[in-house]
Amino acid sequence: MLKILITGGLGTIGSCLVSKLFLSGNEVVIYDNMEIGNLNNLQIYLNEEQIKKIKIIRKDILDKEYIAIAISDCDMVYHLAATLGTLNVVSQPSRMLNVNSLGTHIVADLCNSAGKPLVTMSSSMVYGKNIKKTVAETDDIFVGGNVNAGLWWYAISKIADEAYVNSLMLENPEAKIMIVRPFNVIAPVQSHIVGFVFPRFFRAAYLGEPLKVYGDGTQRRTFTWAPDFVDCLLLLVKKQFWRNTFNIGGTEEISILDLAKKIIKISDSKSAVTFTDPQDLFKGQFVEIPQRVPNVDFLEKSIGMVPKTPLNSMIDNFDKFYKTKIYEKDFDLSRF
Ligand SMILES: NC(=O)c1ccc[n+]([C@@H]2O[C@H](COP(=O)([O-])OP(=O)(O)OC[C@H]3O[C@@H](n4cnc5c(N)ncnc54)[C@H](O)[C@@H]3O)[C@@H](O)[C@H]2O)c1
Repeated sequence: MLKILITGGLGTIGSCLVSKLFLSGNEVVIYDNMEIGNLNNLQIYLNEEQIKKIKIIRKDILDKEYIAIAISDCDMVYHLAATLGTLNVVSQPSRMLNVNSLGTHIVADLCNSAGKPLVTMSSSMVYGKNIKKTVAETDDIFVGGNVNAGLWWYAISKIADEAYVNSLMLENPEAKIMIVRPFNVIAPVQSHIVGFVFPRFFRAAYLGEPLKVYGDGTQRRTFTWAPDFVDCLLLLVKKQFWRNTFNIGGTEEISILDLAKKIIKISDSKSAVTFTDPQDLFKGQFVEIPQRVPNVDFLEKSIGMVPKTPLNSMIDNFDKFYKTKIYEKDFDLSRF
């Protein structure tokens, strides 16, 4: 049994990761400022008694004194805390850069100097404008052209994180660090507020509001079921694939317009689809990626497993969740 610290452990991926680590007998400590994540997210996976056994430190990742104590007191760290989601990123870009980059520097330095293994989350956004049909870990990360748009700065923060932890590994051959690039990881608890498409569409469908598609809706995406993502992640750690970078993502593609239509159908909603210029919504700070599909060959070769939950099952699971009207319990909207 290990004592494992998970920063951002109350978020979409974190709540699922925390639960699986707890259920497999580990002592789990969450470090989360509850800016986006909340305790309800754990209730999807664990009962009250189990949740009580998990220590939760409600502090900011930039609060160096507290994160230093938390890291010194654990055996390994999964670093997930970050500012993400289009609205969250473009509404507070300088804070996003601090949380994502400075926060990761702090966590990585502390783990490195104490010899604690670290798994850190990058993003599929690092592939930027790479137009390959599927992108592999060895492909170009390409945030080119005019990068004076808030959403690129999120990608840049994650590229900076990767560069930083890679530099630590170069200097310290003993450092046990793993970089993971998630591709649209979803779970019904995901926040609709900050712009993620699944919860945004489902919530609109259930409230009878228009499903706002950005642009013409032809952009293509794949989605990854959080429990699949976490299963792959845990196996990578179990097999000790330190000092590597992995894509983890589903490979079943869909256009955003087709996704909107499917969600309207399954929820039996009277909502319409509307087309919106995201640059108007996000004051020119938006960037569109026409297509983003992971190449997961390296993942499959390493652990013999890739995320496999079919898109229709994910849609089904979201629908069941939204039918419980849990979406009515809203997040604090005051900041937006
Ligand atoms: N979900 C995805 O599709 C996706 C895609 C690419 C990368 N990622 C990366 O994976 C990680 C987890 O993503 P997620 O989807 O679970 O995000 P999330 O927003 O659901 O969870 C992030 C958690 O971090 C917490 N947090 C935010 N800022 C913090 C701060 N300053 N101090 C302490 N806690 C803070 C939030 O309260 C939240 O619980 C992030 O690093 C993210 O950038 C996720």
